[in-house]
Amino acid sequence: MLLHERIFELALSRGIFYPSNEIYENYAGFYDYGPVGTLIKNRIENLWRREFVRKEGFMEIQTSIITPKSVLDASGHTSSITDPVVECLKCKKRMRADHLMEGELGIKWDGNFESLKKTFKEKNLQCPSCKANNLGEPYVFNLMFKTGIGVELQTAFLRPETAQGVFVNFTRNFRENGTKLPLGVAQIGKSFRNEISPRRGLVRMREFTQMELEYYFDPDSPDFEGFENVRKEKVRIMTKETQKAGKRKIEWKTGEQLLKEKICPNQIFAYFLIKEWEFYKMCGISEEKMHFRVLFDDEVPHYSSGNIDLEVETSYGIIETIGNAYRTDFDLSQHSSHSGKSLSVKIEGKEFIPHVFEVSMGVDRLIFCLLEHTFREKTSEKEWEWFDIPPQLSPFQTAVFPLMKKAELDEKAKKVRDILREEFYVFYQKSGSIGKRYARADEIGIPYAVTIDYDTLDEDTVTIRYRNNARQERIKISDLILKIKENVDNAKVS
Ligand code: GAP
Repeated sequence: MLLHERIFELALSRGIFYPSNEIYENYAGFYDYGPVGTLIKNRIENLWRREFVRKEGFMEIQTSIITPKSVLDASGHTSSITDPVVECLKCKKRMRADHLMEGELGIKWDGNFESLKKTFKEKNLQCPSCKANNLGEPYVFNLMFKTGIGVELQTAFLRPETAQGVFVNFTRNFRENGTKLPLGVAQIGKSFRNEISPRRGLVRMREFTQMELEYYFDPDSPDFEGFENVRKEKVRIMTKETQKAGKRKIEWKTGEQLLKEKICPNQIFAYFLIKEWEFYKMCGISEEKMHFRVLFDDEVPHYSSGNIDLEVETSYGIIETIGNAYRTDFDLSQHSSHSGKSLSVKIEGKEFIPHVFEVSMGVDRLIFCLLEHTFREKTSEKEWEWFDIPPQLSPFQTAVFPLMKKAELDEKAKKVRDILREEFYVFYQKSGSIGKRYARADEIGIPYAVTIDYDTLDEDTVTIRYRNNARQERIKISDLILKIKENVDNAKVS
């Protein structure tokens, strides 16, 4: 069984995630998070908030999901967020034309729709489902979910990225920032794309969560204050040159090298790559299995003048999990001209449209990568599969168990549980063998388990067990909160 198949089974049995609307139609590409998955997701979002909003002094906003057509005409999404589709005229199956061409002919699509149509005409490809050589002409399919506002059903769409809600609020946020640049505006929320063939679980969904950061700056001053602190830090990256050679060679580069070798156009870009690298490490993603990749011009989205994506190795293959785009003044210029409201700024006598650097992270893909990278097999010491989730992101920071099912132990254990619940999410289970309960805690990645026994009643002490090496330590109840807090903060699980 492949790792992602095992992860899916564990996700179902341990309350991490499952297909949406399971008791009715099960449409692909929609997943619900269960109680354990929801806690992990909230923690990832809050860690991102801490690192990318609070520590940077940026602002976070929440904008509406339903977006009028006019906004998405301006941003280019009504014409550009499309995929080519082909239909089998015999069995009526519809599929991604570019995927079929690549799978059958080994030809990677260059993005030109006319050349794709020509290839289909010349090659007379077979339908992979019914095997008939009866495919229609490829056509363009827009991935946005359409809806109507009010009784007039004014055309609108569910947003395909959270970013547009940020751009249309630029003037207000600029004022709230004291009419100064730079300005960082973050948003976490759902985005929607009617993917033609959603697959690979959390990797390609129709409804997913993004954590996006739009960093506005004066293109004449693209320096970043915090860059000095990270200039010696390193990330792994595939440059255009190493990809051109066909080798996909990954190299370690410092922030300084990213600039000197012109891999990044400015300090802002280099700073955020390093920041993302550190963030991913905090999320338990292994350094040897992730790298940045500089995209070629024909891979870059319509709004970007250059992208460097973060890619992670998984059992599905390599997947893109973060898009870093230099959006220049594209979005603000487009919204200025389409809305008729100028989004230029005037600072010290200079009037210009700010440039934007964007960090766009998918939460769901990160959760999937975290589960794969922290999954641990059974061993002779630990006879169950478990997750080595970093303590900061564990669904519960600690478990509390009475050693045996005895009323007096249960009563004391509940008291300890309630003290800890003032600070942490606590997993509590009173029955079952203690070994089985430790296993249950490990299985959902809980880093510590606190056990209440008869000595607890006499001495007010408990044992704390560490997930990663099963070591146990006796400590006072009054020291517990501090101990767990310190361990969580320092990611200590042994
Ligand atoms: N605002 C820019 C933007 O949306 P993107 O590369 O299309 O850029 C950014 O998306 C991130 O959002 C991706 O790297 C991925 O993590 C996540 N994402 C995009 N489409 C997704 C999908 N269908 N399912 C799950 N996550 C997705």
